[in-house]
Amino acid sequence: MEVIVQKTPADMSRAAAREVANVLNAKPNAVLGMATGSTPLGLYQELVRLHKRGELDFSHVTTFNLDEYVGLPITHPQSYHQFMHENFFRHINIPPQNIHIPSGTTNNYPAFCAWYEQRIRDAGGIDLQILGIGSDGHIAFNEPGSSLSSRTRLKTLSKQTIDDNARFFERRDDVPVYAITMGVGTILDARRLVLVASGKGKAKAIAQAVEGPVTSMVTASAIQMHREATVIVDDAAAAGLEMRDYYEFIYAAKPSAPKS
Ligand code: PGA
Repeated sequence: MEVIVQKTPADMSRAAAREVANVLNAKPNAVLGMATGSTPLGLYQELVRLHKRGELDFSHVTTFNLDEYVGLPITHPQSYHQFMHENFFRHINIPPQNIHIPSGTTNNYPAFCAWYEQRIRDAGGIDLQILGIGSDGHIAFNEPGSSLSSRTRLKTLSKQTIDDNARFFERRDDVPVYAITMGVGTILDARRLVLVASGKGKAKAIAQAVEGPVTSMVTASAIQMHREATVIVDDAAAAGLEMRDYYEFIYAAKPSAPKS
């Protein structure tokens, strides 16, 4: 696992955008796994900026989002369909038919989940999966206790996640209790993983995910089993990392790392 510590959330976003741009430059028809939440917002803004400057083309890109709330219509302001459209897709040149986001309103979840997994396989698998991390250590909505070989399915959100996400809704009771989410196994099948985290609220989860034991109690720790995982954190989110000096030493010596 590569751990990159950056000073600010903006630096974190730029470093993550470089990872995505490298993949798209090498493979213009790459399949990207997308994440929602406040953390990847800066990354999406950076990708949009590169696109507007003519440096990134999404016309052959296919995307698969990690998750969606169950029960919210796609037009709901807090649905992940809306989030992705407003913050990313409407600003780039990706063909709409190449965008995949789990449905939170299907009347047959098992069939939909099986179809979603098949679509990912049909597209050739995910080349790069962007990930955030929950303060309870989740990746996507794989809450504590999720099988580390799980596939796309329905999950019940943890109390911690509902509390964390209540800030986006008028009332805590409005936060959906269920979500449809790629599984940990689905995520581990991606060829590359890039996990971003910022702020002191993520420091404990990052320390557990990067340096703790691999456990379904912290599903982000499963990325330790992936051969091409990069964790990009800002200073505050790195606060609990015991090996931080070592990660910084490695990154400083990396030929492609920008020297500031
Ligand atoms: P956040 O969510 O970026 O809004 O903190 C991250 C997550 O829950 O995966």
